[in-house]
Amino acid sequence: MIYLDNAATSWPKPPEVIRAMANLLENAGGNPGRSGHRLSVAAGRVLYDTREALAELFGADDPLRVVLSPNVTYALNIALTGLLRPGDRVVTTGIEHNSVMRPLRSLQAAGVLLDVVPCAPDGHVDMERMAEALRAPASVVVANHASNVVGTIAPVGEIALLAHRAGALFIVDAAQTGGVLPIDVQALGIDLLAFTGHKGLLGPTGTGGLVIAPHLAPERFRPVFTGGTGSRSEEELPPEVFPDRLEAGTPNSVGIAGLGAAVRFLQATGVETIRRHERGLLERLLNGLREIPGVRMYGPTDVSQRTATVSVRIEGMSESEIGWRLDEEYGILCRVGLHCAPAAHRTLGTFPHGTVRLSAGVFTTYEEIDQAVAALRDLAQSRHRD
Ligand code: ALA
Repeated sequence: MIYLDNAATSWPKPPEVIRAMANLLENAGGNPGRSGHRLSVAAGRVLYDTREALAELFGADDPLRVVLSPNVTYALNIALTGLLRPGDRVVTTGIEHNSVMRPLRSLQAAGVLLDVVPCAPDGHVDMERMAEALRAPASVVVANHASNVVGTIAPVGEIALLAHRAGALFIVDAAQTGGVLPIDVQALGIDLLAFTGHKGLLGPTGTGGLVIAPHLAPERFRPVFTGGTGSRSEEELPPEVFPDRLEAGTPNSVGIAGLGAAVRFLQATGVETIRRHERGLLERLLNGLREIPGVRMYGPTDVSQRTATVSVRIEGMSESEIGWRLDEEYGILCRVGLHCAPAAHRTLGTFPHGTVRLSAGVFTTYEEIDQAVAALRDLAQSRHRD
């Protein structure tokens, strides 16, 4: 089996992740922050360690400003719905996932003003149009760090400057770049970084979160979810401290233990090293696919401008047939269709059918990439035989 669906979720996970999850259940199975006994304290320590590892990874100073959530979609909703009010203006791009577009469309229906800055057909944000859109004041700018469909990397540092000049907070959807590209929230000017645990960060599903800049006070957020936090139990209103204000209910300690181990694995390996490996794989994949008649590739040609996520089509063959045959005949697992990102596919010109997406990860080998290229060549040639 060749796993090329790391943009959906990474697989396999480092063995340390699985061990940390089992260890949590065996040795730290209390409810963190709720009780004072040893199993509760042990679980609380695991949560803090994970926040600390994430803060280090993303260049944030305060681990308590790492809010943990079930995934990046929750984190984006916590940020967007928490901050935006009717009459506020939000600016986004034409290459976003529905985890951004759906909350924004709901907020628009509730009176938030929304501007979508177009992107080039390779997924690059039109920075002139972005600058134009941000000549007027805005409350929030939200953009992905890299597209989940074609891997195009956004110039987040430049967007941050424009956003701040317009008086806006800058929210980055790092679903596809956490653990894949180095990210320093302070150096890049990111006010809120939404991440998921189960993709490039190599943790389990059910984990994610939001890194919040020091200048943002808890009261600025209207919590999407409210409930028990284990703190300020005498109050019936949400606590005005991070992370409690934005974390109601018993957390996913098991998953968070796995995520902490995953981040420590990434730190020991080095995100720069991972990026170099994935960039090499990407180059090999693009070079191989380029040679195949009938295969059309999407996204930037320059590997420095994209992650190892590649979308293709084969002329005259449906995406679902390609995906099914890759799995059945070649043991290659990928994702086909719209990838929950109809706006991105409109930008790429691949709506409504979508593409076949191959996404490499840290454990992908060059040999696997060569086998994937050979399989696609076979499929493309089979059009003339069938
Ligand atoms: N958003 C994930 C993907 O791109 C699930 O496949």
